[in-house]
Amino acid sequence: MLLEMLKSEILAVKIMYNGKPKQGSRQIGMEGSLMKPIALTGIKPTGNPHIGNYLGMYRPALDLMKNYQGMYFVADYHALTSLHDPQALKELVYEVAASWLALGLDPDEAIFFRQSDIPEILEFTWILSCFTSKGLLNRAHVYKAAVDENLDVKRDPDEGINAGLFYYPVLMAADILLYGSDVVPVGLDQKQHIEITRDIAEAFNRTYGQVLKVPEGLIQESVMKVPGIDGRKMSKSYDNTIPIFAPEKKLRKRIMRIVTDSKRPEDPKDPDGDNLYTLLSFFASPERLAKIRQLYLNGGASYGTLKKELADTLLDHFTEARTKFNTLVADKPYLDKILLEGAQKARQIGKPYLQAARKAVGID
Ligand code: TRP
Repeated sequence: MLLEMLKSEILAVKIMYNGKPKQGSRQIGMEGSLMKPIALTGIKPTGNPHIGNYLGMYRPALDLMKNYQGMYFVADYHALTSLHDPQALKELVYEVAASWLALGLDPDEAIFFRQSDIPEILEFTWILSCFTSKGLLNRAHVYKAAVDENLDVKRDPDEGINAGLFYYPVLMAADILLYGSDVVPVGLDQKQHIEITRDIAEAFNRTYGQVLKVPEGLIQESVMKVPGIDGRKMSKSYDNTIPIFAPEKKLRKRIMRIVTDSKRPEDPKDPDGDNLYTLLSFFASPERLAKIRQLYLNGGASYGTLKKELADTLLDHFTEARTKFNTLVADKPYLDKILLEGAQKARQIGKPYLQAARKAVGID
C-alpha cells in the first residue's frame, strides 16, 4: 500500500531540464517506471585530485552515466566529522566541484550537488538512526579503528572521537536511501558502509513494509592499480601523487621525481613492473606505447627522456581540463549556481521518499 502511494507520488515528479523534460530522459521512479536506474555516490571534499583519483573514481563514475542516472554529490557534512576549519571546508567543496566539471561531468546529465544543500538528509538521518542498532555502529571500521588506537595506548576508548564520526554510516545511509538509489559505486574501503545501509533499509522495511529501496553496492574490488611516484599505490597519504591541476612547472618536477632503477640510456629495461612505464601505459596512444615498449626492451632512451614524455603526454591529455578547472575554481557564483540547481533536482527526487518514510513511522 505504501509502495503504491510512493509510486504514484514519484511518478508525478519529472526532472526538468531548462524548464522542459529533457529529451530521452525518463520519469523518476521505481520499478516499472521509465527512468534510468540511479547510480549515486558521495565524494569527500579533498583538494588536489590526482591521476589515481581520475582513473579509479572520476572516469568510472562518468562512464556509468551511459546506463545510469548519475547522482554525484560533495559530502561536506561527512567532511565535518574531521575538518573543523570553515574556510578550508568551503574552499575544498569548490575545488572538488570544479574538478568534476573540468573532468567532464555534464551538469545537465548528472545530478550534481552539495550534500548540505539537502535539508531532508538530516531529518532522514534521525529517522534512520532509530532503526540502526548501536552495535552495528560500534563495529563500523572507521570508528572501531579510532577506538582501537586509543585502547592501544591505554587511553579512554572514546577519547577524541566525536559522535559525528560514530554516526557517519547513518548519514551515509540517508544519502543513499533518500533517493531510492539503485547502485552505489564505491571503492572497497566503503563496502561495509553499503552493508550497513542495506541493514538499515531492511530493518525499516521489516517494520513498515517495502518503503525503502535496498541498494546494491557496485564495489570496485580491483580498482586500477595506479603507482605513485615512489612506486607505492598513489595516495595523498603517501605524498606520492601526480596532481592533475598543479601548475605545469610543479607537475613536471613531480614527474621527474618518479623512482626508477639506475639503468643507463643504452641499457635494455624491463617495462613490466616499471612505475614509469605503467603510468605511460594509461595515457599514451597504443601506437606510441608500442614504440616506448621497444625503447625499454632494446635500450635507447634515458629515464629522463621517458619522464619528459610522460609529462608532455599528461599535459596534453589534460589541457582542456586544466584550463577549465582554473576558470571554474575562480568562479564561485557559477559553481554555487550549478550545485544549487543540482540540489533542487535531488530534493525533488528525495522528498517523496522522505514523505513515505515519515508517513510509515507516523510522523506526517
Ligand atoms: N564515505 C564516502 C567516502 O569517504 C563518501 C560518501 C558519503 C558516500 N556519502 C556517500 C559514498 C554515499 C557513497 C554514497 O568516500
